Amino acid sequence: MESVWMKDTEIRKREALSGDMEAPVAVIGAGLTGILTAYYLKKARIPAVVLEADRIGSGQTKNTTAKITSQHGLVYERLIRTFGNRMAQHYAAANEEAIGEYERLIREKGIYCDFARCPACLYSGTDRERLKREAEAAKSLGIEASFGTDCELPFPVAGVTRFEKQARFHPLKFLAQMAEEVEVYEQTKVLKAENEKVETDRGTVRAEHIVFASHYPFMNVPGYYFARMYQERSYVAALKGAERPESMCLGIDRDGLSFRACGDLLLLGGGSHRTGTNQKDRAKKGCRYGMLRERAKEFYPGCSEVFRWSAQDCMTLDGLPYIGRFSERRPNWYVATGFGKWGMTSAMVSAQILTAQISGRDCPVADVFSPQRRFTARAAMEFMVHGAHTVKGLAKHLLPAGDGKIIPNCPHMGCRLEKNPEEGTYDCPCHGSRFDAEGHLIDGPAQRDCSEGAKNRSL
Ligand code: FES
Repeated sequence: MESVWMKDTEIRKREALSGDMEAPVAVIGAGLTGILTAYYLKKARIPAVVLEADRIGSGQTKNTTAKITSQHGLVYERLIRTFGNRMAQHYAAANEEAIGEYERLIREKGIYCDFARCPACLYSGTDRERLKREAEAAKSLGIEASFGTDCELPFPVAGVTRFEKQARFHPLKFLAQMAEEVEVYEQTKVLKAENEKVETDRGTVRAEHIVFASHYPFMNVPGYYFARMYQERSYVAALKGAERPESMCLGIDRDGLSFRACGDLLLLGGGSHRTGTNQKDRAKKGCRYGMLRERAKEFYPGCSEVFRWSAQDCMTLDGLPYIGRFSERRPNWYVATGFGKWGMTSAMVSAQILTAQISGRDCPVADVFSPQRRFTARAAMEFMVHGAHTVKGLAKHLLPAGDGKIIPNCPHMGCRLEKNPEEGTYDCPCHGSRFDAEGHLIDGPAQRDCSEGAKNRSL
């Protein structure tokens, strides 16, 4: 199913890598993070080549709702409590600066990508107090935030936390133009990385620095990101004939929805669940697209759905992205992952931090994003939950295989795949790899089709 962004954007095709080459930096992944990182490196006079398994923007960049915000759910009160004021301030400043940098870049390059500043709101039907505290916490960190009860949504709310001067844009129009500034090789699948060498199916790149910007890092060791992240799916319907709020709104209650205007359409999002758990969840909650359709009819009778699509997000144990050095054992490798639902802003934050680190510049805000930051109590709790899913998925691996040509074990580490009837895919409940009905790989960390044999693990 195509997202609304794909209908009107053509991104120029690039050649595949042919043979071996050398470059100061190899960036793996030509989504927004990879392209922006290569762009800022080039500005810092450090040439980078971007290696993409498929096409530019063919991963998660095309499935976003394209909000550029420093409002990332209920984050600031928790950050202050867990990491203290200084690190919370770094998180706020990095994201606020990212919004400003998008605007500056779009103006400087004259990129026509529907960029608009607008407020972003969190709403709740019941929980005024948490929203109030979040507004206070954000304000204390220098964000223009307030609490109130006025809301443009078609149902009553108990409270609203409003951040001013946030933004939205068309991610593929922006990406198409930015990609013109950097050297990209498409249809070039990275098979593995070793010290300063990146091996692809088209040749080898020797690089002093390697950046993993491919959504979920496919190298299990070092870094062990598979033990520190899981993936979530969420769903979007683009509606015609629905009222469009000026603000981008996100519910903080269980089953809260997301509202965001896009031209004459309204993007209604929701239905998040851990990847690979849709079947069980569906029995309880019904079809996700069906749920969005029902809510759309209830709120906006007479509207019609013109697009629908789903997104896959990497979730970290403490809810903050991993941006920085991949591992202490690989000082020349870098990673940008675990953006949660906030991929657009995190892509810009990543590009700034990684460019500073690779060029040897100081970057004070990097501490809160560091993959080596300290393990919090919340992370420890999530680790147990995440581990339980993995143990269950691995235990199921011992059950007899089903019929047909799909081997129902994941080639990443062998967990039993679950059928996702909503999307006709096979999804892994352990770390979130996905495969189509024929067993072709859709999303990693697995690196190959599941019909190629679940016995070969990628460790
Ligand atoms: Fe890790 Fe499937 S994604 S076992």
